[in-house]
Amino acid sequence: MAKVGLIYGSNTGNTEFVAYQMKDEFDKLRPGLVEVHNIGQSTPETLMKYEYLVIGVPTWNTGQIQDDWEAFLPKLAALDLTGKKLAIFGIGDQNGYGYNFLDAVGMLGDAFLDRGAQLWGMWSAKGYEFAESKATVEDVFMGLGIDQDGQRDLTTERIQKWVPQVLAQFGV
Ligand SMILES: Cc1cc2nc3c(=O)[nH]c(=O)nc-3n(C[C@H](O)[C@H](O)[C@H](O)COP(=O)(O)O)c2cc1C
Repeated sequence: MAKVGLIYGSNTGNTEFVAYQMKDEFDKLRPGLVEVHNIGQSTPETLMKYEYLVIGVPTWNTGQIQDDWEAFLPKLAALDLTGKKLAIFGIGDQNGYGYNFLDAVGMLGDAFLDRGAQLWGMWSAKGYEFAESKATVEDVFMGLGIDQDGQRDLTTERIQKWVPQVLAQFGV
């Protein structure tokens, strides 16, 4: 069976925690399908060995991509991701950063799309309160939005809905 690479970056551990919670959910439905990597310890080969990618990124420093993903961008720019199926989850704080909520999802997502990846895993922006986000197209996020600061109680339910959606859209 084809494997899915779940690759996250995390400055203070929230995205790492969510990444492993998500892996547990994938494992319930497709045991062993998903392998988890920290982008801070990954190479381009880590990404290239998977046909399916789930990437996790928090937004930092008011509208910026998390440090390890930011450092990886020059390497990403050299990759050909044509044919790879991608889903993104983003971690942010809608109460504290309502003008930049989940911006990194939009920015990192665009960088992957520029390299030829196909985006799946869109998620409704209803149920969140924010003013602006680079992650939205109309009322839809480019990936799953998680807010461990303001809506931690919704995280499990969101993951439980998003993971089967992504599996179905990937067709695995
Ligand atoms: C200094 C600082 C800046 C932040 N900037 C943003 C932001 O622009 N947009 C957003 O949605 N969240 C922002 N956040 C919230 C973080 O994304 C959030 O706390 C997240 O859970 C951190 O994930 P990590 O622990 O995996 O690094 C910021 C947090 C801090 C402390």
